[in-house]
Amino acid sequence: MLPPLLLLVAAAVAPAQASGDGCSVGCPLALAAYYFSAESNLSFIASLFGIRDYSALLPYNPSITNPNYIVTGDRVSVPFRCSCLSLPSPAAKTFLAGSFPHALSTPSGETYADVAAEFANLTTPEWLEAANPGQAGTARTVNVTVNCSCGDERVSNRYGLFLTYPLWEGETLASVAEGYGFSSPAQMEMIRRYNPGMDGVSGKEIVFIPVRGNASQVEGIKVDRSIEFSYEELSNATLGFSMHHQIGQGGFGSVYYAELRGEKAAIKKMDAQASQEFLAELKILTHVHHSNLVRLIGYCVEHCLFLVYEFIENGNLGQHLHGTGYERLSWATRVRIALDSARGLEYIHEHTVPVYVHRDIKSANILIDKDFRAKVADFGLSKLAEIGSMSQSLPTRVVGTFGYMPPEYARYGEVSPKVDVYAFGIVLYELLSGKEAIVKSSESTYDAKGLFYMVNSPCI
Ligand SMILES: Nc1ncnc2c1ncn2[C@@H]1O[C@H](COP(=O)(O)OP(=O)(O)OP(=O)(O)O)[C@@H](O)[C@H]1O
Ligand SMILES: [Mg+2]
Repeated sequence: MLPPLLLLVAAAVAPAQASGDGCSVGCPLALAAYYFSAESNLSFIASLFGIRDYSALLPYNPSITNPNYIVTGDRVSVPFRCSCLSLPSPAAKTFLAGSFPHALSTPSGETYADVAAEFANLTTPEWLEAANPGQAGTARTVNVTVNCSCGDERVSNRYGLFLTYPLWEGETLASVAEGYGFSSPAQMEMIRRYNPGMDGVSGKEIVFIPVRGNASQVEGIKVDRSIEFSYEELSNATLGFSMHHQIGQGGFGSVYYAELRGEKAAIKKMDAQASQEFLAELKILTHVHHSNLVRLIGYCVEHCLFLVYEFIENGNLGQHLHGTGYERLSWATRVRIALDSARGLEYIHEHTVPVYVHRDIKSANILIDKDFRAKVADFGLSKLAEIGSMSQSLPTRVVGTFGYMPPEYARYGEVSPKVDVYAFGIVLYELLSGKEAIVKSSESTYDAKGLFYMVNSPCI
């Protein structure tokens, strides 16, 4: 028998065992299956996870048609970043989890058990103790950790997105897996390997259910199958990426027009390889929907990387302002384009999970549709470029475009939403003046000035 002290230590450590123990990296997206009870509402659930606006949950829960009417017992999928964290002690121990600061309501003496109940058992009092040692009853704010999984290549490389699922009364790993469409013996064996030691366990334990490839079964989550294209499909639709289909060329690669599955699409062919983390990030991007953002429909990772976007018919703002063969934009249209772009930008800065800094706002990345409404293109691309194993030329491309970068960003490289606000200011200057972001004051390319300096110069 273990001496009492060792038993105590074992008890404190045991709850801190999770499938992600000993991790070195996390992944950008995991989902928590929050058990919806009579006391829950979406705003409250969102606030627990630090999500400001509950509407950010809706893309992950398309089965919710009326946010005010959710049935008790339904599971609400809550997106969160799955990070590799370390416990305060022992210092070296790492585990995969999302971490959420939670203010305790001191007057009513909220206990760790209360907090675990508020999180619908996505965390446990033991985990709270492990993450906030010695603070029970004294702290005002605690870190709530919710375990997560980024997959395990030794089990399967098909799955990168996982649901953290607390078992409710009567549920077992097998019954939950079956509910998500895993029923064959081979699939069940895989589920068991993702959840070692959980077979047959019932009660308030957490299991991890892979989501990828099970779009139809997973309530509310449309992933992968619908957005993954084969190389053959893309190649056929562009006649082998022929010149006739090419509509543009940018810093990341060539852009082709195609009709795919009945929808007009722009395919961006990129010189890159996709890593697991990269794919997880891509999945998030396909969930971001806003009328002022160019929608990412899907991707293909065969041969090289292809991103498939909705096709925007009317070219980009740069062409309308500076190109030949375009009618002059009226003031009303210019104002509307400015407002549309600002709304798209505000959405990625403030309302997505995670939030994005675009880093390459410029008139070529503002596309104009057939009704002359504007849509911001390429958001998320610089982040993808950063985490993907891209070609050598890309890291320099991702810093943005000359003429649109604030001087302090160009010098120190510090990224914040202000980088986009400055670049947006240059786009406004372009809309107002009709000049390009870089103005050549003579034929010499060495004698070029940013529009900002030209407009601010007393000599102009
Ligand atoms: N979804 C789309 N629909 C229609 N045309 C598009 C679409 N995406 C891109 N294009 C066209 O292809 C051109 C090239 O796009 P791309 O994003 O590769 O380069 P860029 O915007 O000039 O520079 P960057 O690489 O910095 O974004 C765009 O300027 C635009 O005219
Ligand atoms: Mg672009």
